[in-house]
Amino acid sequence: MDDEAASLRAAMVRELHDLGAITSETLAGAVATVPRHLFAVDEPLKAAYAADQALVIKRDQDGTALSSLSATHIQVVMLEQAEIEPGMRVLEVGSGGYNAALIAELVGDTGAVVSVDIDAEIVERARTCLDAAGYEQVEVVQSDADAGVPEHAPFDRIIVTAGAWDIPSAWLDQLSEHGRIVVPLRMRGLTRSIAFDRADEGLVSDSYRLCGFVAMQGAGAYTERLIRVADGIGLRVDDQRQDFDINGLAAAVRSPGLEVWSGAAFDLPDELELFLATSTPEMAMLHGSKDLVEQGVFALSVTRGVPALVVGGSFAYRTKRPNQETGGFESGVFAHGPDAEAVAARYIDLLRRWASEHQRRGAARIRYRPMPSGTAKPSQGIVAKQLGAVEISWS
Ligand SMILES: C[S@@+](CC[C@H](N)C(=O)[O-])C[C@H]1O[C@@H](n2cnc3c(N)ncnc32)[C@H](O)[C@@H]1O
Repeated sequence: MDDEAASLRAAMVRELHDLGAITSETLAGAVATVPRHLFAVDEPLKAAYAADQALVIKRDQDGTALSSLSATHIQVVMLEQAEIEPGMRVLEVGSGGYNAALIAELVGDTGAVVSVDIDAEIVERARTCLDAAGYEQVEVVQSDADAGVPEHAPFDRIIVTAGAWDIPSAWLDQLSEHGRIVVPLRMRGLTRSIAFDRADEGLVSDSYRLCGFVAMQGAGAYTERLIRVADGIGLRVDDQRQDFDINGLAAAVRSPGLEVWSGAAFDLPDELELFLATSTPEMAMLHGSKDLVEQGVFALSVTRGVPALVVGGSFAYRTKRPNQETGGFESGVFAHGPDAEAVAARYIDLLRRWASEHQRRGAARIRYRPMPSGTAKPSQGIVAKQLGAVEISWS
């Protein structure tokens, strides 16, 4: 079994390297060393070493995952973002054991790893797995990470492995002067793992990656608003205070859609999505059912959720079609409601602006500015949080 595990592990390292997820020799060495199957108890070896498979550890009564062993792919992507060095003190928020063991390999004998989880069962499980794999030096603490772990601070790195909606002030307070926080941050319905460094009073980042995580529990838990517009169609919204003309929008859903094409390429969907969703507070995520798509009422993009520009009783959202000349895709818009033309024109302008000025990976610079609680205001390129504002600018 050990031989089989070692060869599956070596294959996983090669795969993660070929995918560009592992870029450093040190991380390749750590992944090749840590026996992941000892943290994926009761799973077949193949599942333990499948690079892109998350393994659910605990669900709530409704079946929603509360804790999982994240897929190795996203763990290594975040660890590369973190640029952990020997001797560092690292706090991991959310404990599965395996990620903490990788961090222990990276910090070496002179560093320290503290892993905190809100759930006593998960803490116990992580402790047992870490001991079985020989990582007794990792400290596992049960606590709500919203308050950080002051007794072990300061930390050179804080790696958050649950979906956060805001940056608790304790994380900033407990971060060392040149520290970095890597956090899957939720912004207008999208999650990106962002590597934040200190800048002035807040944080700044040029590194962000697409990811998905179970939601943060405890004091920092946040429930997005789901607004039902009509049967099979709804809006997911960050801002609890934002008003919507639900009756107007429901009527718009029943009206025929206006179709407009941008002439611009549709490419790098996760970059474009971030640009659109954070461009203005009038953007909300539009979700629609397959039935409505099959009936021809909506385009396919709504089934996964798509940024929609919502103005009064009108809205527009993105779609795409094959571009015969380039072999790629062209972006376009469907719009509904009395002001469909005007809303479509604004959306088309955004699609063209992104394609002509920002169409590349990593074009966003993301800042987090702490502010007195509840004072941040959403505006163009600014996503308001409770404890501060996320500012997104594009180069
Ligand atoms: C996806 S699991 C991460 C496990 C592990 N770090 C990994 O990457 O495989 C997320 C964990 O975050 C924990 N969690 C959620 N909210 C938390 C909070 N406020 N404080 C500490 N842990 C929290 C959950 O209990 C869950 O075990």
